[in-house]
Amino acid sequence: MIGLIQHVLLHLLDDSGVPGARAEVLRRVGLPEDTHFRLDTDYDDAQVDALLDQACAVLHLTRDQAFEAYASAFLADTRERFPAFYAMSADSRAFLARQAAIHNVMASGLRNPDRRRQINDKFHITALDNGDLRVRYDSPRRWCGLYLALAREVAHFYGDHLEVTVAQCRQRGDAQCIFQLHWPELRPSSETALTQPAKESP
Ligand code: HEM
Repeated sequence: MIGLIQHVLLHLLDDSGVPGARAEVLRRVGLPEDTHFRLDTDYDDAQVDALLDQACAVLHLTRDQAFEAYASAFLADTRERFPAFYAMSADSRAFLARQAAIHNVMASGLRNPDRRRQINDKFHITALDNGDLRVRYDSPRRWCGLYLALAREVAHFYGDHLEVTVAQCRQRGDAQCIFQLHWPELRPSSETALTQPAKESP
């Protein structure tokens, strides 16, 4: 996984108020204390799962609690690091419609075409006629809790009321996750329609 996720996780540990949390998590995962993750580098997927598990253990958080805290830290980081991604979207629907495209931009710097494809294939987003978004998330990570926490955080940032229905979920045995995002107070906008990838989810 591209190092941005791990980078933010280490900062979350620093800000957790638990003394030595970063060093302890790195030690448990078998990494040196001075480990840094680069934003343009792809790291071992199993390692990022282990980092999350150990962060939960050291901070005494469930995965969902960790995802909530992580989502807030991730938005703070990416708003500063990539302000254009936020400025170009008028509301949370426009932003969340672009999320897969943002991931693809991040993956475009990787040399390995298989890894780029794997990242591109994780999310497919379709704009529906009523303005809803249908998101297919298909990843061995099964971090749907992170998806939901980030979607809520993005809606909160834009001051929008977002309702999410989980139609399918790998956590409960489905082959993939399908989320339907609905904004009861937003009218379907042309901007959302224009930002959609042409691909239709199965
Ligand atoms: C500026 C905004 C964002 C940036 C720069 C960004 C970047 C990234 C990157 C680099 C990864 C690692 C990809 C990989 O190596 O597989 C990732 C993973 C992920 N992102 Fe984002 N992201 C952004 C916004 C969002 C939002 C808004 C959501 C959800 C609503 C989201 C959901 C996820 C999830 C669930 C993963 C884990 C994927 C997996 O491996 O299963 N991201 N993101």
